[in-house]
Amino acid sequence: AAVAAVGLTGQMHSLTLLDADDEIIRPAILWCDQRTGPECAEITDRVGAKRLIDVTANPALTGFTASKLLWVRNHEPEAYARAKLALLPKDYIRYKLTGVAASDVSDASGVQLLDVGKRAWSPEVLKALDIDPSLLPRVYESPEITGAVTKQAAALTGLLEGTPVVAGAGDNAAAAVGTGVVREGVSFTTIGTSGVVFVHTDTMKIDPQGRVHTFCCAVPGAWHMMGVTLAAGFSLHWFKNLFCQAELEAARLLGDSPYKILDEAASRAPVGSNRLLYLPYLQGERTPHKDPDCRGAFLGLSAAHERRDLLRAVMEGVSYSLRDCVEIFAELGAPLSHTRACGGGATSAVWRQMLADVFGLPILVPRSKEGPALGAALLAGVGAGLYKSVPEACDAVIAIDGEQQANAENHKTYDKLYAAYVKAYPALKGLYQELAGI
Ligand code: XUL
Repeated sequence: AAVAAVGLTGQMHSLTLLDADDEIIRPAILWCDQRTGPECAEITDRVGAKRLIDVTANPALTGFTASKLLWVRNHEPEAYARAKLALLPKDYIRYKLTGVAASDVSDASGVQLLDVGKRAWSPEVLKALDIDPSLLPRVYESPEITGAVTKQAAALTGLLEGTPVVAGAGDNAAAAVGTGVVREGVSFTTIGTSGVVFVHTDTMKIDPQGRVHTFCCAVPGAWHMMGVTLAAGFSLHWFKNLFCQAELEAARLLGDSPYKILDEAASRAPVGSNRLLYLPYLQGERTPHKDPDCRGAFLGLSAAHERRDLLRAVMEGVSYSLRDCVEIFAELGAPLSHTRACGGGATSAVWRQMLADVFGLPILVPRSKEGPALGAALLAGVGAGLYKSVPEACDAVIAIDGEQQANAENHKTYDKLYAAYVKAYPALKGLYQELAGI
């Protein structure tokens, strides 16, 4: 009874297909899945490259949901014929809680069937792609109430029957609310599984080259731009599981987090990891390369390198990849003056300092470590009438605990290494294509 309303958030873009009996038809195709290169070409061909950007605000991208829907239609026609509803992950949870098929404008933006300027599904794009509009849930602004907890869900969860459930937001738009990024030009940087640099915009702005995404945000009537690197915290997770058995065992014995031990080791390697570069393209890349076929690399390995150099290089490589996003915002005339830290990776003071030093910007540290979950709760608070608006909810709740400044000396070193990093992808592009073709 103490719960006034429920807010929802979750990974974006992943395709959950249900049949007429509400059974899940096939395993969800996840946000990071890269199988849909040919379907992206099909989307661009059917809608037209310019029109697609004019309406959906983004070029066709393998991560986005529309291409996954087309992939199922092209490769599993029986599954597609059975589909009655296509939901995003958090909206599937809503469906179970309320029996209502609904989404919110921020998550719906990542489906690539939304008219992002009009904040409604695009009949034009749906027609061009021959997708039945009845497959899609109704779209709401993030703080709007979409339904209420059913009797059955109440029995399963302990929530009261009738508790309102608001639209909520995709993880990044919810993280913006949870870090107080709700006004023009304010930004946050996430190191989660993916890495994101997110900027709030009161008017809709688009990168003509499509390197950063433009989506509706959780503040009604506003938008955001974000650059997304696909393997941020995931790079460190991969490195830890493959190469850090001793640290994993030590953490198990100490009852502590292995990441704490890895932080300690990384901070003992020099800034720049003895001239070692890591390219974090473990699962292809979106910003800035839009390339499903590129892959990770260590560049500059020598026999003198120690394991901690490789570890630090992984964290630095992710930071360079996030700087790619920062550079694009500057190029688009919206340079960042600072950014707020978000996500599991950014709970590490070592990694935050790297971001500050690589970006040459102050990193603000919000008190709460729960960006997206706190954002979803605040959206529920607005829906329940506890706050008048999303910015008012943020002003009441979000606190900044500290700020990490860039070290000028380190920034100089990182500038040189970043200049080399940006040359690596173009140098390897042909080789990536060759490898993908084998
Ligand atoms: C955003 C994106 C990721 C996922 C991760 O476009 O793909 O940030 O939302 O959960």
